[in-house]
Amino acid sequence: MATSSFRGGLAMAVVLLPLLLLLALLAPLQCAASAAATCVGLAPAKRRREVISITEFGGVGDGRTVNTWAFRKAVYRIEHQRRRGGTELRVPAGTWLTGSFNLTSHMTLFLARGAVLKATTDTRRWPLVEPLPSYGRGREMPGARYAGFISGNGLRDVVITGDKGVIDGQGEVWWNMWRRRTLQHTRPNLVEFMHSTGIHISNIVLKNSPFWNIHPVYCNNVVVTNMMILAPHDSPNTDGVDPDSSTNVCIEDSYISTGDDLVAIKSGWDEYGIAYNRPSSGITIRRVRGSSPFSGIAIGSEASGGVSDVLVEDCSIFNSGYGIHIKTNVGRGGYIKNVTVDNVRMSGVRVAGVRIAGDAGDHPDANFSQLAVPTVDAVRITNVWGVGVQQPGSLEGIRSSPFTRICLSNVKLFGWRNGAAWRCRDVRGAALGVRPSPCAELATSFAAAGSCSF
Ligand SMILES: *[C@@H]1O[C@H](CO)[C@@H](O)[C@H](O)[C@H]1NC(C)=O
Ligand SMILES: *[C@@H]1O[C@H](CO)[C@@H](O)[C@H](O)[C@H]1NC(C)=O
Ligand SMILES: *[C@@H]1O[C@H](CO)[C@@H](O)[C@H](O)[C@H]1NC(C)=O
Repeated sequence: MATSSFRGGLAMAVVLLPLLLLLALLAPLQCAASAAATCVGLAPAKRRREVISITEFGGVGDGRTVNTWAFRKAVYRIEHQRRRGGTELRVPAGTWLTGSFNLTSHMTLFLARGAVLKATTDTRRWPLVEPLPSYGRGREMPGARYAGFISGNGLRDVVITGDKGVIDGQGEVWWNMWRRRTLQHTRPNLVEFMHSTGIHISNIVLKNSPFWNIHPVYCNNVVVTNMMILAPHDSPNTDGVDPDSSTNVCIEDSYISTGDDLVAIKSGWDEYGIAYNRPSSGITIRRVRGSSPFSGIAIGSEASGGVSDVLVEDCSIFNSGYGIHIKTNVGRGGYIKNVTVDNVRMSGVRVAGVRIAGDAGDHPDANFSQLAVPTVDAVRITNVWGVGVQQPGSLEGIRSSPFTRICLSNVKLFGWRNGAAWRCRDVRGAALGVRPSPCAELATSFAAAGSCSF
């Protein structure tokens, strides 16, 4: 027994070794080819002509002094005495405790190496802001919501960057309120921009966000690159990046390990999102790696303003609930269309590799319409390789609105325990080179599926 398995192993090695060598040789070529595609050109990390330091405004980086006024004064100075070429606000090494503050246009917030911007845990004095019109209420609780730790509203040309400095949301106190059901309002996002254009976030570490980490909503031209976003796997709703009713958003070269979806593309919630009618489109997610107890890359479930023109490529998801997860529901309305997912690797997927679902997520109130049936069309998933995937996946549309042109090509998932079968219903499309064998709902040629070459 031992000998034969040893021989088997030897034979495997003989077969695999040349393959591995070949892959090793090809790898640099692949990297070189994909490195050509970047977010550059969308929202650059501009150099500023003027540089000021938070210490000039009385800031003290001793980890105890509360620096809220120093930050607000510094931003006020930048906003009211504008300098040509913009201003960089430097945060030197040290631990800078502060309450939430707003940014202004044409500024850079720069976190030096060793700088930690720490959110106060004084939840009772945390400012409130109006609920988002496209949600009609706070996402968790009705009415107002807590302001983001670092926010911008109606801005243009803003950079948050540094030399691996840290923004620490100290979210534990908020997670515990959620766990004990003592929250009065919806928890704050760590970094939130509303109605803004030209936002660049790079080269820093975000950790322990109270709620979502980066939330661009009603924005255009947003770049998130070279980021590390960390929160414990048991921290509730700590999504990595949630582009929401925003256009031209590029997220790349980042590592995200949090308690919820790594990236979730959204566009408003049920009747409020339908009425506000602000889609997300032109979203690129590239070379993102990470792990999450829920989804790797998600669209929805709040997608009532519509989501289109999404490209996900060269991503790696490990130790997660789902790999690729497109989720919507009756009552959402809107559409999800023209989504391309290419070259994604997964390992250790607890629930399913690919899920496209028409029955996901909760409703803001009882006023959502049963007639608000979303559509999902033109989803192309190619070159996916997964190991340790408990279940290949499910493609389950809505009876009155079957999902159309769902096209899977070269999707190979291994390691199933909870059954090797894809679950499908109310879905049309095609599958080529899919392991395990796809369900009968998907045609075996793209030509037969109508057009998978969209
Ligand atoms: C921050 O901006 C919001 C608007 O988004 C505003 O309501 C709030 O007063 C501002 N806070 C400060 C401290 O300026
Ligand atoms: C589909 O989305 C891609 C971006 O991923 C875009 O380049 C392309 O033009 C879109 N196609 C259509 C038909 O809108
Ligand atoms: C539903 O809409 C009605 C009419 O606009 C409103 O009076 C009611 O408060 C809404 N219900 C909820 C739960 O929001």
